[in-house]
Amino acid sequence: MRHDTGRLTRDGIRIHEANDFAGMAKAGAVAAKILDDLVPHVFPGQTTGGLEAIIRELVAASGSTSATIGYKGYQHASCISVNHVVCHGIPGSKIPKWKNDTHSRTDDALYDGDILNIDVTVIVDGWFGDTSRMYVAGEAKPFAARLIQVTHDALMIGIDTVKPGKTFGDIGHAIQSFVEGHRMSVVRDFCGHGLGRVFHAAPNVLHYGRPGTGPVLEEGMFFTIEPMVNLGRPETKVLKDEWTAITRDKHLSAQFEHSVGVTSDGAEIFTPSPGGLFYTPASA
Ligand code: MF3
Ligand code: CO
Ligand code: CO
Repeated sequence: MRHDTGRLTRDGIRIHEANDFAGMAKAGAVAAKILDDLVPHVFPGQTTGGLEAIIRELVAASGSTSATIGYKGYQHASCISVNHVVCHGIPGSKIPKWKNDTHSRTDDALYDGDILNIDVTVIVDGWFGDTSRMYVAGEAKPFAARLIQVTHDALMIGIDTVKPGKTFGDIGHAIQSFVEGHRMSVVRDFCGHGLGRVFHAAPNVLHYGRPGTGPVLEEGMFFTIEPMVNLGRPETKVLKDEWTAITRDKHLSAQFEHSVGVTSDGAEIFTPSPGGLFYTPASA
């Protein structure tokens, strides 16, 4: 039986109790360990369908449940977003061709230099752990490696902003100003979200914004920060499969996601990499 603890703010954001942090940390650790375990499986010639099969095995072996299978009709345990796919790439489906692609792309196989986000959400004891990271098949081109680094830094700068009394606009502003300072752009069409004993809850966590705007952060709020950063323009479009979101200009896109909780003086990251990794090193 579901027992929702805590109270809701007037913005409808749940304030969780001290004990709830442990539940989130456990779920987050399972999701993050799955992302760690995928590292040796990402290489040129691997397929996104093959990665999905491995993810299903890892979810089963962990004793957790996939949150995405059956979610709004989605049929997979992961989203795998390659190159200019912004988010919600469907594993096993043909990888679309990005702007400077030199490959013909007839299937879901990765080529040397492809960059990909793998996003996994699991449920452990009713708590949702949602995290994603970038990986590289083979060796990233320097501009792709820079995009990945800036995106990861943007996520961490967003998390560094989290503290009671700050606002969601402060988080968005920190991310946006950092990204735009690097002449890259922040996707507006997708955002982070509250979570806990539910997958997607209030608030929408925008990765752009103005300081001092939006709801005020309070201890006990749980949400994701998951900036999508583009090398070109921020506009996106969703393909006919109704899931895959790509950049309109077909330039590369990257994303990292952590689930976090607001503590008395900052943030607890529920989804840190147990192995201290954040994406496949080019040399691995
Ligand atoms: N994990 C994604 C997120 O960060 C949501 C994926 S929903 C799916 O919110 F149905 F596409 F899997
Ligand atoms: Co999310
Ligand atoms: Co996610």
